[in-house]
Amino acid sequence: MFKVLERKELAPTEFEILVDAPRIAKKAKAGQFVILRIDEYGERIPLTVVDTDAEAGWVRLIFQVIGKSTAQLATVMAGEALSDIVGPLGKATDIENYGTVLLVGGGVGIAALFPIVKALKEAGNRVVTVLGAKNAELLILQEDCANYSDELILMTDDGSVGQKGLVTDAMEAVFKREEVAMTWAIGPSIMMKFCTLTAQKYDTPIYVSLNPIMIDGTGMCGGCRVTVADSIKFACVDGPEFLGEEVDWDEFVNRMQQYRPEEQLSNERYEK
Ligand code: FES
Repeated sequence: MFKVLERKELAPTEFEILVDAPRIAKKAKAGQFVILRIDEYGERIPLTVVDTDAEAGWVRLIFQVIGKSTAQLATVMAGEALSDIVGPLGKATDIENYGTVLLVGGGVGIAALFPIVKALKEAGNRVVTVLGAKNAELLILQEDCANYSDELILMTDDGSVGQKGLVTDAMEAVFKREEVAMTWAIGPSIMMKFCTLTAQKYDTPIYVSLNPIMIDGTGMCGGCRVTVADSIKFACVDGPEFLGEEVDWDEFVNRMQQYRPEEQLSNERYEK
């Protein structure tokens, strides 16, 4: 059993938990994730490792309530325990000193972006971070990202904080004014697709982090398959990061919607 040490509501429907998992805390690197189950009957939930403390032995996880299992996870309080947590899984981000890097996070994807922001800053990069969300309330981890960014640009759909507009507007402005060596974008699929198109327009390589349905997380079930550079890859072992220009976005967006009716039914039953 893995004890939840702290639980915090970051935004409406978005929660942060610190989980006691010393062995994962020692090994996890930026870009990697864990898969947890709330109880022995639970769905396997993949979540990016947002941060760790190797000495204290905790891992920091952030999730959004989007269905039955995440709604159930939101009911787990500090002092209670999760049945199991496996990781770190996936390939770590390729961290090096590139020069100027642009990092773009949208919605709850900001949680997966933050460890990369932190690691790239610690590696000596000039870090420009763009965070986007519907409104100020949903723009999470502003302070954490500010602590590891040379410049932080905030974008909201309603202009309640930062500038009113899309993250791609901010990307354009940065690309127009300075040379960017490498870009990362993490957020909703459609956002990552358009960030890729924007980076391509300025001939800048971009990594995206794909979050398809996962089951085992070790390359065996095939559930997380994605088409990258015209070949089948498994996001759990070959990713989750891939070059954006090589991703078959139409297929990825379709697969993300494949089980919506079942997910909705499961959620309705849970809410009853
Ligand atoms: Fe099963 Fe990736 S989650 S192969």
